[in-house]
Amino acid sequence: MTLDGPAGSGKSTTAREVARRLGFRHLDSGALYRALTFALLDAGVPESAWAGLGTEQIKAFGVSQHPTEGGFEVRLRGRALVSELRTAKVTDRVAALARLPAARACLLELQREAGAHGRLVADGRDMGSVVFPDAAVKVYLVADLAERARRRLLETGGAASEERVARQADAISERDGKDSGRDISPLRVPEGAVEIDTTRLTFEEQVAKVVDLVRRLTL
Ligand code: CDP
Repeated sequence: MTLDGPAGSGKSTTAREVARRLGFRHLDSGALYRALTFALLDAGVPESAWAGLGTEQIKAFGVSQHPTEGGFEVRLRGRALVSELRTAKVTDRVAALARLPAARACLLELQREAGAHGRLVADGRDMGSVVFPDAAVKVYLVADLAERARRRLLETGGAASEERVARQADAISERDGKDSGRDISPLRVPEGAVEIDTTRLTFEEQVAKVVDLVRRLTL
């Protein structure tokens, strides 16, 4: 099944828990985009040179993923990446990387390969529209911008003061704009997706809704 939606809509945490309850693997496609962004930054490739890289050159950076019990570990030349993926620097640059056709082609292969390891809950921006268009169940999560900003702050351990929520909302809405406005694989509601607004749902409620939907549509 696929789970798409804008930043802070609760995709990744929901996907992880839904996968756990269903006994599927969680594919966090954003982690791959973040890993590649980290790889380019770490190698000191200036952003002005990113668009000139071909698919083979991008593959040569050595981002890979390895199945674990509940999901996949993302590695850069054998080194597992975790905290490196969510730094402000990576978050700030990832949308620029995500609009490069060569980067998307390289990661498309990795994501489809993940499907060979069994049933997936794949979360991202184009899981239902491009990567797994034939998925049995497609969900699109939405939530009000202010609520998404508040959740993102709480997730990173910050206090959700009004001013910080407003600043976070600006950052999220800028990335949403880039993700929705790009020519290649823009963020869209995939054809056949069920839209769930999580603004007024608790985490438990949104997980239960998605799990029920998968059970109803596939069992
Ligand atoms: O957790 P959050 O929703 O903020 O981001 P993420 O899922 O880690 O994805 C980070 C960025 O990667 C997004 O803003 C997109 O620019 C890009 N991305 C994408 O283009 N396509 C995907 N399938 C997943 C992520």
